[in-house]
Amino acid sequence: MCGIIGITQKNPDNLMEKLYQSLKRLEYRGYDSVGFAVLSQGNSIRISKNKGKVDEVARQTDFSLMKGTTGIGHSRWATHGAPTKENAHPHTDCQGNIAVIHNGIISNFLQLRKELSQKGHIFTSETDTEVVPHLLEDLLKQGKTMKEALFELATILGGAYALVVIYTNEQDTIYCMKKENPLILGITKDESYAASDIPAFLPYTREAVTLRDDELAILQPGKYVIFNVKTKEVVNRKPHRITWTPDAAQKGGFPHFMLKEIHESGQVLRTQLASEIPNIEHIVQAILEADNIITMAAGTAFYASLTTQYLFQQTFGKIVIPTIASEYETVLPIINDNSVVIAVSQSGETIDTIKAVKEAKQKGAKVIAIVNVVGSTITRIADHVVYIQAGPEIGVAATKTYLAQVFAIWRIYHQALIKTNKQTLAQQLQEAIQNVPDEIERIVRNDEAKARDIAKKIQHAQSAFYLGRGINLTTALEGALKLKEISYIHAEAYPAGESKHGPIALIHQNYPIVFIAPNDNTREKIIGNIMEMKARGAYTIGIIEENDQELKQILHQYFEINPKYSKQLQNIPYQIPLHLIAYYTATSKGHDPDYPRNLAKSVTVE
Ligand code: AGP
Repeated sequence: MCGIIGITQKNPDNLMEKLYQSLKRLEYRGYDSVGFAVLSQGNSIRISKNKGKVDEVARQTDFSLMKGTTGIGHSRWATHGAPTKENAHPHTDCQGNIAVIHNGIISNFLQLRKELSQKGHIFTSETDTEVVPHLLEDLLKQGKTMKEALFELATILGGAYALVVIYTNEQDTIYCMKKENPLILGITKDESYAASDIPAFLPYTREAVTLRDDELAILQPGKYVIFNVKTKEVVNRKPHRITWTPDAAQKGGFPHFMLKEIHESGQVLRTQLASEIPNIEHIVQAILEADNIITMAAGTAFYASLTTQYLFQQTFGKIVIPTIASEYETVLPIINDNSVVIAVSQSGETIDTIKAVKEAKQKGAKVIAIVNVVGSTITRIADHVVYIQAGPEIGVAATKTYLAQVFAIWRIYHQALIKTNKQTLAQQLQEAIQNVPDEIERIVRNDEAKARDIAKKIQHAQSAFYLGRGINLTTALEGALKLKEISYIHAEAYPAGESKHGPIALIHQNYPIVFIAPNDNTREKIIGNIMEMKARGAYTIGIIEENDQELKQILHQYFEINPKYSKQLQNIPYQIPLHLIAYYTATSKGHDPDYPRNLAKSVTVE
């Protein structure tokens, strides 16, 4: 996710200030590098860009030199190419006549870059975005107008994009084109705005027009026209009035970032799926050839990493040792140059995981990092990096990034099935991988109200159990952590079979217990656990397969998960109700789930 703003207006005096302020309001969308471009009088484009946050780059920019009535701004969340000045947007063509800012991923950029380079285009960045201005340069040289060039571009680009383009030949015009990633227009009688999200222009106008996929908009001060890029016909769409407050607008209308990020989870997996995993062959080969595989991670990332054990131990007989990063000394003695360490970390900056990975490398291990933040410390230590493409996660409690971490591990496993010719398993998993994003969005839509009701019932509990067996234990562990860290109710996850060996002593009337009970090889035994706990007065909540009548009979509450796409990957869809229960329990107790007490988004001290 990146922050994008384009402004064209009649007033020449405050353009840069408005571009800067607009980007500030989008900074939650990504802020590792920032750039501005203004169409200056005299047919030139002035650009200021660098690594760093919006304030830092704005301070380095002489606004008095960036005079004009039309300009664009971008705050980057790196996906291809580390956060550097060269990789910061805007990107231009060879002549500097076209400046482009982009949110999304051009999935076929490597091929396009190769073709453009062979034609003599010079690239100055590692980004996927930079192919866009060079393609437009070629298309304009063929005599096309910018509008015709963008229509053509839409047939060339693969993947997802929200593009905003300025061009020296058209001083007071901005071009925008959208596919999958958001672009919203703002309009007044003398100004036109294009942004990746409403907060950017909300102080200037509440009249907004949402662009839809495969649409091109041409903006001039106070005017806009929309075309369908396939039919090339004009689309008539009137502005609608935004009623949100600026704060609500930053959260996309949601009360908290955490809820917004739970709702984003399906799209996040879709975005990840749009990119092949770089060096996947080497990654799979390293894992399959390793003497042992050690996962190293903390907190939620550790629970995600457990997926590796269930998948690679069971299908390939690999020895997988999940290790809490701060306990890495316990596994150091068995790490050698035939070991593979899989480090999982959203931030890539968790000190425990950094230290563990460094020590493992000292012992000769090959390190594969599964990370969200591009260019973070762990990515610079690792031999291979798998980016989870989840965009910035503002809520301190991990939600979408947990699912994206687990999804990345399933995708690596899928490639291992293919490499080892386990075709049937690979085919079944392929269908689940393609469809699980839709399943997640369906669950969020259907189960939010029930999660809110259950939250009201458990909000006064002193503690809770989350029980599961096999891979469902990862779901229980993550669910318990989520409840703990934002509702402050003590919650403990246990292997369901283990709960008889002591923990059951804690059960009393209405003691809440969440059971992860899909229709897999653990179902029969978990039914026994439910009955044991229910007999002692527990309030039983199950995450079960759709239409499991027997479980619906015995549980007090349940969430039904469609089995079609969750036979595999089940520790992804089964997690959604638990994230929702944690969120609504916290808000029922009057807590701010985005900023829970005592916690930091990234723990950089031991
Ligand atoms: C999860 O909700 C917590 N915020 C915390 O456990 C987190 O997962 C842990 O600190 C690891 O962070 P990382 O993924 O950035 O390494």
